[in-house]
Amino acid sequence: MKRMLSGIKPTGRVTLGNYIGAIKPFVSFQDDYEMIIFIANLHSMTIYQEPKVLRQNTKDLIALYLAAGLDPERVTLFLQSDVMEHAQLGWYLGCMVTMGELSRMTQYKDKAAKSKKNEGIGAGIFNYPSLMNADILLYDPDYVPVGEDQKQHVELARDIADRFNKRYSDTFKLPEPLIPRVGGRVMDLQDPTRKMSKSDDTSKGCIYILDPINVSKKKIMSAKTDSGSEIYFDPENKPGISNLLEIYSILSGKTIKELEEQYKGMGYGAFKKDLAEVLGAELQKIQDRYNELMSGHVIDDILNEGAQKAQRMARKKLAKVERKIGITIKK
Ligand code: TYM
Repeated sequence: MKRMLSGIKPTGRVTLGNYIGAIKPFVSFQDDYEMIIFIANLHSMTIYQEPKVLRQNTKDLIALYLAAGLDPERVTLFLQSDVMEHAQLGWYLGCMVTMGELSRMTQYKDKAAKSKKNEGIGAGIFNYPSLMNADILLYDPDYVPVGEDQKQHVELARDIADRFNKRYSDTFKLPEPLIPRVGGRVMDLQDPTRKMSKSDDTSKGCIYILDPINVSKKKIMSAKTDSGSEIYFDPENKPGISNLLEIYSILSGKTIKELEEQYKGMGYGAFKKDLAEVLGAELQKIQDRYNELMSGHVIDDILNEGAQKAQRMARKKLAKVERKIGITIKK
């Protein structure tokens, strides 16, 4: 069975973008792949988090993974900070990546462009791809399912793995990013040229999985649409409707072609109303299960078990790395 690995940061509230681009695909992969999924809480430190809020967001994210259908019997689910090897390998790999490579990461460039001088940006924002490389390479996954914005970081992991293998002999499997063909980049509902993002906390363009259902439905109804009234997929000329078509396709399981056919000759209003209903029903199911999970104690047990499984794998790999690079002096 091929292995997959991915993670999500527990910063901000979980958005429809995270759900469609990451959580929902993970659930669909668990039948056919060995899955390793973790909460990337070390990554959340790149920007100041209020401790109480971070704790809540972390619990929410674990419960949401489970509520969305991730099965802990089949999937190794754990907190990144429970497996120290991530930070340790992150250091070694951080010493193998160049400043030039890190400077070329689009996410960093975007952040740097927004701040007048780079001095204001935490060093973690610059360095975090190294930690992400370690997250991936510790477990030898074949595939890393991520949204489009993370593709570059997975490609960097591949380059660093190759560099390490050439320098010290074969150690890491070269991972491949896996981007969903539909839903890999869910856009903001008010500005469909921008990614839907959890950092825009006040935005009407971002749907949060745990928001009241009627609020999310309203956001769909007031989503910005394009000129004309026909419903077809054309991200360049009709970014608003194309984004909604992608969301609808993932939530309903219908292809974009089928949806275009279904809504031929109908206006935006009817289309949005149906999408709002489909979204509302899915969110309701998730929220009901989330509420059940949050009132019980299963989450701690699941995380303990997941951490133990992950530690076994990570320790073995780190020991191998440390032997090869000359850190271990015992034979
Ligand atoms: P993060 O927490 O920003 O996002 C988690 C996942 O959600 C995807 N995503 C989206 N997909 C579609 N449309 C959107 N609007 C959207 N917004 C976010 C992201 O691409 C991602 O797949 N550094 C990573 C977390 C991480 C990781 C890893 C992932 C740490 N280590 C190792 C994979 C492997 C991050 O910040 O993702």
